[in-house]
Amino acid sequence: MKTSELAYTGTYTAWSREGIVSEVKQQMKTSRFEHVLRVEQCAVRLAEKYGASAEACSLAALLHDYAKEHDVEEMKGIILREGMDPELVHFGSEIMHGPVGAYYAEKKFGITDEEILNAIRQHTIGGIEMSLIGKIIFVADYIEAGRTFKGVEEARELAGKNLDEAAYYKIEKTIIHLVKKEVPIYPGTIYVYNSWIQRKAGK
Ligand SMILES: [Fe+2]
Ligand SMILES: [Fe+2]
Repeated sequence: MKTSELAYTGTYTAWSREGIVSEVKQQMKTSRFEHVLRVEQCAVRLAEKYGASAEACSLAALLHDYAKEHDVEEMKGIILREGMDPELVHFGSEIMHGPVGAYYAEKKFGITDEEILNAIRQHTIGGIEMSLIGKIIFVADYIEAGRTFKGVEEARELAGKNLDEAAYYKIEKTIIHLVKKEVPIYPGTIYVYNSWIQRKAGK
């Protein structure tokens, strides 16, 4: 299905898809906005393949990077005020924009569906427990058509066969990437990795 043909039913938000698209567009540079539209396209395709709600996936995809370019100090303020993990504030927009994006999804767009909110919250680091929608957004963000990094083809192939394997691939590669870059790793990222690798070993 073409994402432009998706009409929201009002199940998750009173906003129309067009309204959200134009609001999201104002929050970010064009290249990121185009990325968001590609994530939506990919997420809707995965939703059809794996039997998730295309509407929920479209919504989570459109809002996943809503806060990415927001002022860092403002994000820190929201995190501390809303009682989110205070550790988040030490890891920059890269880590903060997930939870802060979920905050806006709820406060501004009236979304209360926990699967959608968690999908936005977890899209950068993943989650110990992830719903189908959560996995779809997490993977779609990684493999959308504009991605060109080494390994993306393998990730796309995995996504076509098994969503869990594709999610695990992203979790593992992200940790390796961060270690190679010699940057500190947000503890939540390590917890997610540990839980996935333990589950994998237990299979
Ligand atoms: Fe993001
Ligand atoms: Fe993204």
